[in-house]
Amino acid sequence: MGRTANARGAAGVAEEDAARQARAIVRRAEAGETGQGLRHGGPVVRLTRVTKRYRMGAQSVTALRGVNLEIPAGDFLAVVGPSGCGKSTLLNLIGAIDLPTDGEVWVDGRDLARLSDRELTALRRERIGIVYQFFNLLPHLSAWENVALPLLLNGLPAPEVRVRVDRQLEQVGLGHRATHWPHELSGGEMQRVAIARAVITAPALLLADEPTGNLDTQAGEEVMQLLRAQHAGRGQTIVVATHSPDVARWARHIVHLRDGAIAGIEEPRAPLA
Ligand SMILES: Nc1ncnc2c1ncn2[C@@H]1O[C@H](COP(=O)(O)OP(=O)(O)OP(=O)(O)O)[C@@H](O)[C@H]1O
Ligand SMILES: [Mg+2]
Repeated sequence: MGRTANARGAAGVAEEDAARQARAIVRRAEAGETGQGLRHGGPVVRLTRVTKRYRMGAQSVTALRGVNLEIPAGDFLAVVGPSGCGKSTLLNLIGAIDLPTDGEVWVDGRDLARLSDRELTALRRERIGIVYQFFNLLPHLSAWENVALPLLLNGLPAPEVRVRVDRQLEQVGLGHRATHWPHELSGGEMQRVAIARAVITAPALLLADEPTGNLDTQAGEEVMQLLRAQHAGRGQTIVVATHSPDVARWARHIVHLRDGAIAGIEEPRAPLA
């Protein structure tokens, strides 16, 4: 009673914010484990007439031109097309890493152009997980620490972090590699650590940009199997960019991109589901 935010001071407020965030993550993570809470109705991602132009000095490159796309919650979508067609650009817009030149990108019911930097950071941190072709693990952190990082950044208490990270590493089959540095892991193992890191906060949306691009067939299949399990178990919305038809077959829907525009959307002819 009577203790105002001012009286507590900024440190106290930050601490409370962190604790509140931590509780929210735990709730979401638990809901995610039973597949509840993430399977809400409407589209989780909506792009309306999205154009992206990159300025290059006097020149500009149009990477996306007038893309309309709705990705319903719980979908597993592959974006395919030749090099340079705009796959990574599309994922970066959906992942709130970049903003469109024209048009709107809505994620989780919010128009990204209307969010402050702080809100964008929070959205990325709490609602979106990203997996990259080159894994992007922090080289000076162990496998375990890499996976723990998002939870630590969100202020989750250490004992909770320990339990969750141990369990997540087991789930990707790497309990026995927890103390390895990234350079002591195979490519497939690094990507499984990266997936564990991307899903540890139970994000509603998981984006993967050429997640198998640096792996052999076997390791690539294991990665896709993990994404599939993630989709089946947690009902997460997953978007995978790939140039490989074999990888795209794991998805429920395939969006074909050509020269920055959607050339067609199909269901895989020989789905692996
Ligand atoms: N930061 C940037 N500045 C300028 N041009 C860019 C930038 N990023 C991408 N482009 C250009 O935009 C187009 C789309 O690039 P993007 O990376 O989205 O393609 P992609 O489909 O992911 O290709 P890949 O399969 O090779 O990864 C390309 O012509 C590329 O050269
Ligand atoms: Mg790309």
